[in-house]
Amino acid sequence: MQIHHTIASLRAALAGAGRIVFVPTMGNLHAGHIGLMTEARAHGDCVVASIFVNRLQFGPHEDFDKYPRTFVEDCAKLEAAGVDHLFAPDEVEMYPTPQTYHIDPAGAHVGMLEGAARPGHFRGVATVVLKLFNIVRPQVAVFGKKDYQQLMVIQNMVREFALPIDIVRGETARAEDGLALSSRNGYLSAAERAEAPRMYRLLERIRAAVHAGERDYAKLEAAAVTELTAHGWQPDYVSIRRRCDLQPPLAEEPGALVVLGAARLGHTRLIDNLEI
Ligand code: PAF
Repeated sequence: MQIHHTIASLRAALAGAGRIVFVPTMGNLHAGHIGLMTEARAHGDCVVASIFVNRLQFGPHEDFDKYPRTFVEDCAKLEAAGVDHLFAPDEVEMYPTPQTYHIDPAGAHVGMLEGAARPGHFRGVATVVLKLFNIVRPQVAVFGKKDYQQLMVIQNMVREFALPIDIVRGETARAEDGLALSSRNGYLSAAERAEAPRMYRLLERIRAAVHAGERDYAKLEAAAVTELTAHGWQPDYVSIRRRCDLQPPLAEEPGALVVLGAARLGHTRLIDNLEI
C-alpha cells in the first residue's frame, strides 16, 4: 500500500489506475471499516482509502481533539485488507487557507435527526467529501449504512451536482451482542459497554413490532425513549422514518422504513439504525 500525504503525490500515483473505488474515513479503523474496504475491492481496480479527522464536521463542544488517532495501527489494517493507496493529509494540506466555500445541504435533508442534534455537522461532512472526491476522482465510493443520514446527504449531493460517482452502501458491522461497531465505542467504560447493546435490541424490537402489524409509530418511539432513559441514557431520538428521504412515514403509504436512534450513554453519543 502506498501512503500519500499530499494531493500531488496521490494524483500522480492514480494516473492510469483504472476504475478507482474510494472509502473515506476518519481513522481509528475497526472491522466495520475493513468490511467497507472489502466491499470496495469488488467494485473496481484500485482501492483508495483516506484518513482525515475533519475539523469542519465537529461542533465546538464535540470530541475533535480527543477523537482517537491510531495511524500506525490503521495502516497495518488497511495494508492487510489489500488497500492500494492511502491518502492521509494533514490539516494544512486539506485546508491551506480557511475553507470559505461550503456545501450546505438544505434544511429538508438535514434539519432533523443528526442534523438537528449536531448543527453544521452535515455542512462539514458534505464539504470535505466533495473536496476528497475532487482530490481522488473516484468512479465509485463506499459509505456505511451505520451513518444512515450521512449516506443520504452524500447520495443527494452526488445526484444534485451530477457527480460521476456511484455510491455503494456498506452494511453495518456489529459486535456479537449486536452493538454497532464505532470508533466512539472505545470511549465506553466496562459498565457502559455492557449496557450499550440495548439500543440495538430496542431497534430490533421496533422492527419486529412493525413487521407484526403495529402502525402506531409514535407509541413505539416513545416506549424506546422511555426504556433508554430508565437505563441511564440521554436519548436524542428514536425515530421511524421513510428510507428514501428520512421524513416521517405517511399513514396511508408508509413505503420502505428505517428506524434510527441516537442517545448519549455517559459521555459517549451512540447512533444506530435498522432497516425495517
Ligand atoms: O463517516 C466518516 O467517517 C466521515 O464523516 C467522513 C465521511 C470520512 C467525512 O469526514
